[in-house]
Amino acid sequence: MSTFDIPFALSRTRVAVRPGALQELGPALAELARPTKVLLVSDETVAGLFAEATLESLRGAGLEVAALVLPPGDATKSLASADRIYDRLGEMRLARDGALVALGGGMVSDLTGFAAATWMRGVAFAICPTTVEADVDAAIGGKTAVNHLAGKNLVGAFHQPVLVQIDPECLRTLPLRDRVAGLAESIKHAVITDEPFLSWHEAQRERVLAQDSGVLTELVERNVRIKADVVSRDEQERTALRASLNFGHTVGHAIESAQGYALRHGECVALGMVAECRIAVAMGLLSAADADRVVQCIGAYGLPVRLDTPLNEDELLGYMLRDKKVAGGKVRFTLPNGLGATVLRDDVPDAVVRTACHGVAL
Ligand code: GLY
Repeated sequence: MSTFDIPFALSRTRVAVRPGALQELGPALAELARPTKVLLVSDETVAGLFAEATLESLRGAGLEVAALVLPPGDATKSLASADRIYDRLGEMRLARDGALVALGGGMVSDLTGFAAATWMRGVAFAICPTTVEADVDAAIGGKTAVNHLAGKNLVGAFHQPVLVQIDPECLRTLPLRDRVAGLAESIKHAVITDEPFLSWHEAQRERVLAQDSGVLTELVERNVRIKADVVSRDEQERTALRASLNFGHTVGHAIESAQGYALRHGECVALGMVAECRIAVAMGLLSAADADRVVQCIGAYGLPVRLDTPLNEDELLGYMLRDKKVAGGKVRFTLPNGLGATVLRDDVPDAVVRTACHGVAL
């Protein structure tokens, strides 16, 4: 449907959102980065579905290509996997004029982006996202990372992709639970920047869930534009602007850790948004009616608004204090300030956090 550029201080990212975008990868990458050699990185699940078409598109553009297929799952997002990528890049003798392509969800794009950021101090990379979460969030903004024993995403770099080639048709192969989980980030974008987009989610629920092609493409494009606007103005999260994308994530990450990563990231973000809306109400920032509206929308998409297992509030607070968002020993929350705006607060009383967390569990 559309192609546009996201401007950054030292680079720009070309984004294409349209059915069939995957087949157009080769010519688009050849035009933008003129790479001689390309390494495609994917996981076993995604590679089985889309690697052949992607490689064909790259070869068709005259590029010399190799592929590395890794096991699916977050355990692969490690320094050991980055090392496997470096081994392959070394075998290929891929130099500064080469490029990497990430084909997959956020795990693959974070890991591949990290390898691209560090190989020879930085080579070009492109992303072909294949999940809702990657389309609307992970692929945009250049946060690359691997996990460390000390925590998720703790080792990383900002490195912008030259190209994000989004084919919403890839989403059709996703299991329903994964598709729905990714929609949490879409609802998040609406709550933090765009109240009419929340109304859109309410009105288009059936078509989104039925995977209407036009509606899915619109959903992805609107999200990409929202995220692009935020990250181009605050590329390295120096201000409250990019931090606004953390709405739902302070409590959400704590729930994710406390549940031993048994829930999808988006499901934890959904629960986190519910809790953080309640915090915003208690802090006098959001009306109870607006909070109820957000919770209703989250639930209408089949996302969890309450866990059916108990949560230990002390444990959650402990995780929140270890989060990357802590500053000066205080937990910082991005809270809705009405619908469509946010404010960063580090003065939320523990009792308010506990009550809100209690409200999303048995
Ligand atoms: N996912 C939040 C960010 O990119 O800043």
